[in-house]
Amino acid sequence: MKVSIVGTGYVGLVTGVLFADKGHDVLCIENNIRKLQKLQSGHVPFYEPGLQELMTKNKARLRFSDSIKEGVEHAQAIFVAVGTPALATGEPDMTYIERVAMEIAQHLDGYRLIVEKSTVPVHTSEKIYETIKRFAPPGVEFEVASNPEFLREGQALEDAFNPDRIVFGVPSAKAQGILTEIYKDFSAPLIATNVNSAEIIKHAANSFLAMKISYINAVANICELSGANIEEVAKGIGLDRRIGEHFLRAGVGYGGSCFPKDVDAFVNISRELGYEFNLLEEVQKINKDQKKRFLKKIKETLWVVKNKVIAIWGLSFKPNTDDMREAPALDIINELKCETAKIKIFDPQAIRKANEILQIPAIDNHTQYLQKTLQDVELCTSAYEAINEADCLLILTEWQDFVSPDWEIVKQKMKQKIIVDGRNMYDPEKMEQLGFIYKSVGR
Ligand code: UGA
Repeated sequence: MKVSIVGTGYVGLVTGVLFADKGHDVLCIENNIRKLQKLQSGHVPFYEPGLQELMTKNKARLRFSDSIKEGVEHAQAIFVAVGTPALATGEPDMTYIERVAMEIAQHLDGYRLIVEKSTVPVHTSEKIYETIKRFAPPGVEFEVASNPEFLREGQALEDAFNPDRIVFGVPSAKAQGILTEIYKDFSAPLIATNVNSAEIIKHAANSFLAMKISYINAVANICELSGANIEEVAKGIGLDRRIGEHFLRAGVGYGGSCFPKDVDAFVNISRELGYEFNLLEEVQKINKDQKKRFLKKIKETLWVVKNKVIAIWGLSFKPNTDDMREAPALDIINELKCETAKIKIFDPQAIRKANEILQIPAIDNHTQYLQKTLQDVELCTSAYEAINEADCLLILTEWQDFVSPDWEIVKQKMKQKIIVDGRNMYDPEKMEQLGFIYKSVGR
């Protein structure tokens, strides 16, 4: 089938490549010219394992353009996967979605199915429908469906090819038929719902996962106070199939472009609808406190932070991605900078991206925040370079590269043998035997 996708972020581009791989004829629309040029020359503009190879393999069925008009002409189904970044109020910014809806409307010349792929609050599809209706030629037929995406960065292809379920929020049998045809080669269960339910499913799923993380972090704090071990506790509860073992890794808190924003957005839309979702407000609070507790551990161990050399391993919000949006590392760096510590960072992928970002004009809030945060911070080219003469090493992302460093080299290079681990990567007993002062989370 001919499919268009507007927006080539993680969700849009992975979906486009996936559909092309399944044999569909895909046109991706991107209005950022730098990004578009990269894509048109065959390059993935961000780091995601396996995506470059799969994009190259499917280049015959995958084209890129900046024209929504072309996108409308090309396809029967137009997926909208543009960003919905958080506003200062915690609500998602729907400007891009509205703009895309208006533009699609102006070029409609016959039936199209417009499919929301971006994460949006419930009732967005109604707003998209009304907007298109207002701007489209009179009498032209179209429908709006919701098809939320559940892939994780860093393992996007694995998730996209093998989803636990595929959700269609559809207004009609015709819309369901089109989406069923697009997804016919997947073996996952297909769940057809009304459009409002599909929109809620996405927010409820992400908020539930965030809640699981905050819950285990809260339990980790009790473990620290009581002498229990969070790894043992997480295993002990996770083997109960009703609870499940996934997303019970305690640490420095969740980050990324999804959980913080989506929990905020779900709290906001709930309030607008007349319900105070206090449970989720507590989830957010625990997540923020987790970073404060981590900083407290650093200060308690180092005593005076001023002028200390602090090495950081891990800048991205999770491993296998160069995405730094809402990465716990950023807040921690800013706090340590306030205390005038000297900061040196290494990350296997995000350093390259950070260096790139420092060279470009800041066109959005995230870039501005990153540039300000990384000012006066040393970006290192290796993990060992970062720890040279360091008073303390912080582990903020659990990259495979950090699993088994040569501890003798680490000891030789560091000024003080102090490690504060926000991802529980190492065995506390072994670290002590090696002669480190080692602090982690909930152990
Ligand atoms: C999340 C969801 O997991 C996806 O299902 C969803 O499609 C995506 O958001 C989205 O809405 O687009 P993602 O943000 O890419 O995916 O990454 P996760 O693997 O969920 O991790 C999010 C954060 O939680 C990371 O900072 C990670 O370090 C943290 N985390 C995760 C923990 O602290 N503990 C855990 O046990 C698991």
